[in-house]
Amino acid sequence: MTNKEIIESYKSEKESLNLILDELQEINGFISKNDIMEISNYLGISEKEIMILLKYKKNIKLEKQGKNIVIVCKGPNCLKKGSLDIIKAIEKEFNVKEGHTSLDGKITLETKNCFKKCAFAPNVEVNGKLYSNCTKDNIVKILKDVIY
Ligand code: FES
Repeated sequence: MTNKEIIESYKSEKESLNLILDELQEINGFISKNDIMEISNYLGISEKEIMILLKYKKNIKLEKQGKNIVIVCKGPNCLKKGSLDIIKAIEKEFNVKEGHTSLDGKITLETKNCFKKCAFAPNVEVNGKLYSNCTKDNIVKILKDVIY
């Protein structure tokens, strides 16, 4: 089934929007610009309105996720202890930008406001495992071990 066929399997009404987004996310792992255009045409909702909704739907990704998901905490304690340096080091080492996936598809770099482990800042989650008291050097080493 193509994405267009999935979209058109729903009723052409605004109430279908969430259901369509959730199904496409589940099947493809992200919603493409083309999906948004197709949904907009089919439901008669502007692309801008869909994008506004997507800001609140945290489960929806707008690009294909990498094989490895790295989430760096940008909460106050982690920032104070160097999480921005960690982000910069990961961006440089793995050729990825915050909020995006590397071109080779190996890593997606995301951020979060707090892991509720502030006493152990800075915290970084790699594929669901939380690492605490991180430094830019040890997190780059951990990622190299995980990725390569
Ligand atoms: S500020 Fe990073 S875990 Fe709370």
